[in-house]
Amino acid sequence: MVIFKTQSECEDSNVSSPAVKVNSVEYHLAALLLMVHSARSAAYGRTIRLPKGLCSRMHVNLLKQVQDLFENSYGTLNHLASVRRFFSPARINLIGEHIDYCGGLVFPAAVQFGTVIIAQPNGLGTIRVVSINEPGKVEFDPAGALQRSTPTHWGDYVKGVFVEYGKVNVEVPGLDVAVGGDIPGGGLSSSASLEVGIAVLIETFTGYFSSDDNFANRQALSWLAQRAENEFVGVNCGIMDQGAIALGKENHAMLMDCSDLSISYYAVELGNYSLLIVNSCKQRRLGESAYNKRCEEVALALSILQPVFGISTLCELPIDLVNDALDRIDDPILCRRVRHVVSEHDRVSQAASRLSRGDIEGFGKLLNESHRSLQQDYEVTGHELDTLIGLAQRQPGVLGARMMGAGFGGCGLVLIKTSSIEQFSEVVGTAYRAEIGYDAEFYPVEIGPGAREIMSTNNE
Ligand code: GLA
Repeated sequence: MVIFKTQSECEDSNVSSPAVKVNSVEYHLAALLLMVHSARSAAYGRTIRLPKGLCSRMHVNLLKQVQDLFENSYGTLNHLASVRRFFSPARINLIGEHIDYCGGLVFPAAVQFGTVIIAQPNGLGTIRVVSINEPGKVEFDPAGALQRSTPTHWGDYVKGVFVEYGKVNVEVPGLDVAVGGDIPGGGLSSSASLEVGIAVLIETFTGYFSSDDNFANRQALSWLAQRAENEFVGVNCGIMDQGAIALGKENHAMLMDCSDLSISYYAVELGNYSLLIVNSCKQRRLGESAYNKRCEEVALALSILQPVFGISTLCELPIDLVNDALDRIDDPILCRRVRHVVSEHDRVSQAASRLSRGDIEGFGKLLNESHRSLQQDYEVTGHELDTLIGLAQRQPGVLGARMMGAGFGGCGLVLIKTSSIEQFSEVVGTAYRAEIGYDAEFYPVEIGPGAREIMSTNNE
């Protein structure tokens, strides 16, 4: 069976930060429509895209599930005026992979999938967190000496953010929290979605904002959430995911300079073309250790090149000096890593200018080149992703395709003629299953705003 999933629990394109009132009649109507839609979809064996107007309210189903869990865990919501709700998106990355931690340019966008968080003060002084995606309750004293679990537990992504706010002397009251995500597969940064959502929650409940300027405040929040992952969880991720999720803008991709988190927003206007997330459904196992290994390799390469070229990050090396630089490195593996980083950085600038000129075809070619570089030079793809992306690149109507995020499994991104999506999912889905033995999934992308409070019972 081919699984073709789309945005059935989507965001209102007009919903904006910080607090949005959702009329409960609309909420229940949307929930009803969603149920009818799901029943129809089940009958056809696939999920069909809802017309835009019908999926116009919220992540109705997800919000309802998180709300039910909240009530089952802590009591009924209706009487509690202090309850607040948040939505923190996932992100895609158009191009610029594995170069955020090399001070490079990347080109991400926030999308319709994400994490819903519901919270209220509990008067107990402790933080209690439950999740619809994972069993058990995480409970801790936000002012206590918190330790990471071994192996890493989902609660560590929450605790790490509290630890970082503790370091800047933010005192958080006791809170009851329920979370739930609908982010498919790996590669769309569910971890940063949770971290940034928790950071927004903490700032909302405490009134702590590091700057009066909203953009600067969100930059600081992004760096803080990144530190939570680097220092508490122990993954040396760059700033792309937290930055994209905190600073996303509806219908815009962000040309992000990871050396200082400055951003230029680019309208994503693709005419008859769409972006499609393809999920290889391959679980990443060695992902975190292999990710940290790549970070070590490029740090080593930088230490060799720094004294010769006077650069402070690898992405400062101009593309026309790359061969010169490679001549100075003996290790062929390090040479390949450098070649990926420098060429990918160059592709990002080209991609932004092609996109803004409306050169969609040229933009697609860069996606293909990016995948080849990630496969052959950076070696972060694997059989499942290569099979899926290889199949995708050969289909009619496809202008480009590549893996996305950390790699080693998870999702990819395809630029495809909108009218070809249905046939694409059928053909690629069938061929992928024949080769790999299980199904891939397909999700058209909708680019939305960054993390925000979505409504408050105070206003209802
Ligand atoms: C993960 C990390 C990001 C980035 C990507 C690869 O998503 O969290 O910082 O390095 O991988 O581009």
